[in-house]
Amino acid sequence: MVKVGQKTDEIMGDIIKEHRNNLGSGKTGSGESGSEDIVDVLIKLKDSDSLPMSITDDNIKAVILDLFAGAVDTSKTTTVCAMVEMVKNPRVLAKAQAQVREVFKGKEKVEESDMEKLSYLNLVIKETLRLHPPGSVIYRENNKESVICGYTIPPRTRVLINAWAIGRDPQYWEDPESFKPERFENDPMDFTGNQFKYMPFGSGRRICPGISFGLANVCTPLAHLLYHFDWELPHGTTPHTLKLSELPGLAIGVKNDIFFIAAPPPAA
Ligand code: HEM
Repeated sequence: MVKVGQKTDEIMGDIIKEHRNNLGSGKTGSGESGSEDIVDVLIKLKDSDSLPMSITDDNIKAVILDLFAGAVDTSKTTTVCAMVEMVKNPRVLAKAQAQVREVFKGKEKVEESDMEKLSYLNLVIKETLRLHPPGSVIYRENNKESVICGYTIPPRTRVLINAWAIGRDPQYWEDPESFKPERFENDPMDFTGNQFKYMPFGSGRRICPGISFGLANVCTPLAHLLYHFDWELPHGTTPHTLKLSELPGLAIGVKNDIFFIAAPPPAA
């Protein structure tokens, strides 16, 4: 359970109040250009009494907090790991950067709508999530007795699925420790968790509800970083000595600070 500080509680209370005022003044919502956002949807649900159980402002705050907790660290860790893997693999960095600069040529700003044109950067993100899934361990509890690989799992057993280890298992992945985005080229494997060898967003009915948002949260900053800067290692560090140590745990984080030199790109 996440402990909410008083300040956080106040901020979320103010957000709900602001949304309520906007709805009260006849607006559809408080989202971009007046559209509905998740808080509007939850307030409308609460007020409509259409649910079998009633929900409170505290429930709405809990959902907002859940979304933040689920969104921020996962996206940040994936972005950092992707940058580290690219700098460690200069061939991959050069290829991803060339595509980003080609797609956004002449534009002042990287536009979100162009992200799907970045096919190679999307493969880089896929490969990053194979080696460094931020939700490294997925939990499940079984209702009924099940037999898996000859082991009997009694009902109500908490089963931990180690997505991190599965992503590096040589039984399923060729040369698993190498960072090779091309392995996903022409491979229909997606993020739906239907193939159990790759489930960075989990699988089944409890799969991450923020997949699209999460991918956009990673792809957009990476595209900006590659578009606006060239990246080098500090003097004395080589791709081979650069170490990415992960914090052990159910949600992976990056243990050590990693420094890169950002240089302006060559003039076009
Ligand atoms: C790169 C980004 C992300 C990764 C790798 C990721 C990964 C995961 C994983 C592995 C789970 C557990 C799924 C399961 O048990 O089957 C999960 C659950 C969850 N994620 Fe994400 N996530 C990301 C981004 C986000 C974002 C952006 C949001 C919200 C906007 C979000 C909200 C949630 C929530 C609410 C759950 C709990 C779902 C439930 O228990 O029913 N995640 N995520």
